[in-house]
Amino acid sequence: MNEFTQQIAEALAKHLPLEASEAGAMLEVPPKPDMGDYAFPCFTLAKTLRKAPDKIAVELEQAIELPALVKEIRTAGPYLNFYVDRAEFTKRVLTRAIEQSKGYGNSKKGAGKTVVIDFSSPNIAKPFGIGHLRSTVIGGALYRIFETLGYRVVGVNHLGDWGTQIGKMMAAFARWEDPEKFKENPIAHSYELYTRFHEESGKDPQIEEEARDYFRQLEGITPEEVKAMAEREPQTHEQVAAMGKRKTSNAEQVAAMAKREVWGFWNRFMDVSMAEFKRVYEKLGVHFDYYTGESFYNDRTQATIELLKEKGLVKESEGALVVDLGEDVPPCMLRKADGATLYATRDLAAALYRHDEFNFDLCLYVVGYPQELHFKQFFEVLRLAGFDWSANMHHVPFGHILGMSTRKGTIILLDEVLEEAISRAREVIDQKNPDLENAEEIAQAVGIGAVIFNDLKNSRIKDVNFDWNAILSFDGETGPYVQYAHVRFAGILRHLEGEAPSPASVDLSLLCEPEEWELVRDIENWPSVIEQAAARFEPSEISTHLLRLASDFNRFYQKHRVVGEDAPLTAARISLVLALKNVLSKGLSILGLKALEQM
Ligand code: ARG
Repeated sequence: MNEFTQQIAEALAKHLPLEASEAGAMLEVPPKPDMGDYAFPCFTLAKTLRKAPDKIAVELEQAIELPALVKEIRTAGPYLNFYVDRAEFTKRVLTRAIEQSKGYGNSKKGAGKTVVIDFSSPNIAKPFGIGHLRSTVIGGALYRIFETLGYRVVGVNHLGDWGTQIGKMMAAFARWEDPEKFKENPIAHSYELYTRFHEESGKDPQIEEEARDYFRQLEGITPEEVKAMAEREPQTHEQVAAMGKRKTSNAEQVAAMAKREVWGFWNRFMDVSMAEFKRVYEKLGVHFDYYTGESFYNDRTQATIELLKEKGLVKESEGALVVDLGEDVPPCMLRKADGATLYATRDLAAALYRHDEFNFDLCLYVVGYPQELHFKQFFEVLRLAGFDWSANMHHVPFGHILGMSTRKGTIILLDEVLEEAISRAREVIDQKNPDLENAEEIAQAVGIGAVIFNDLKNSRIKDVNFDWNAILSFDGETGPYVQYAHVRFAGILRHLEGEAPSPASVDLSLLCEPEEWELVRDIENWPSVIEQAAARFEPSEISTHLLRLASDFNRFYQKHRVVGEDAPLTAARISLVLALKNVLSKGLSILGLKALEQM
């Protein structure tokens, strides 16, 4: 609540069986400004008061005393409409937004609380494709949203660096690797082999068997063995490749060599993949506090299974270990008949670890909706095990990216998409503003910003259309459009000579055009928009607000000038632009876009 809604709520509560906070929560913003600035609907009171809503409204209007910050109260059917003192409202809102500068919108709501966000989490056996873009940018935005509200945020990259797909990769490398090609372009060669595996495993089931063996070996390596191996010389690519070919008849030696081989392979592969991922994260401006992938939990999965056994939840089914989840949900498998653990086993171990380590108040999993069942299952296992805190874990699902496909050799690498976005943005910029300095840097910010904004502009559950022309357009709901609004603010403020006037020295009551009022309200709303975004895990609350603010400003700018003959009015409008710029630049940076001064 702000000071205005606070006063209204208190006045209402005096005449109603409601607390001020309850009355305040019921206040709405009417769809049109002439219907008042805040409205109180009387429908829900009809039952308790045994009166028609219209009648309640009329009686309230007569009973209530006019709060100091309210100019007028009128009824409209079942609504009681409040008209605030707009000059005072404008003055307070703009003063706050300007004085708090970059801090406007920050709060202490989350102080003392921790939120763990599991996001991006690509699989190392596959190249970083467009499929992981959404989790990366949604997770990155949520990270900054919670940070703004004062939470301690822990960003975790739960890399898919373990499991049968790693075994598949190994089987493919053992059969077909071309060391020269790998050296030249490890990602491309890996993907080639990965694709080949899937083609050939259809014809030759033997390959699948090999893959399972490899993973079993990898999973069987104990922490002690890892330590012993780590103390040896690091394995070069050639050494590792040669090892498999060396002949020996000693069974123990063979086994040790096989372990070193798979371990060496896995490490080599991790290094290459991480280098690729980090390059992409840097471009997207995304940061992780931990890169603890699935492999991190390898030495905890056994204890997790034991724990669930103690709780009496585990049963055997055809040699595998499962937890039954009742009629409607398929059982959650913890261990396959061949002894290998699963994605869910590692997620269970990870949840226990995170709870112990971070003592989270919230743990979010930003993962596409096709994995809905997986989350439902492992959350349910934790609930059955009696871990009440599992109620604070949430799957944050999102829709697909349409207009790009990623199966069978036609994978679209995220890095390529970002590079293409930059070069296309460069073309647009060269056309529109050929004399721009730092054009390359700006093209980078515009191109990448366009891809991010396109992903975040609609509610996350909706599918995203990927259409280059639409994404990079300067009109419509795009990144360039919002970035351009910021450029315009910056341009206007460049007219300013010397320091910006302090709000106290400016007559802000001169801002009385309806277009100005809309903008003042957009500014006032900003802190609660951030809160909504956090409450709903929904970055589109922010993007939608920025789009509205930009288009409200354009509407204002079509009718009015900021810098004009009238000095006091100019000063007031400059203050408005200063506040708008604060909100827009903060909003852009929360979403992961750069707030540019020129473009
Ligand atoms: N690696 C998985 C995938 O790409 C996503 C992992 C999400 N996080 C988790 N804790 N399960 O599908």
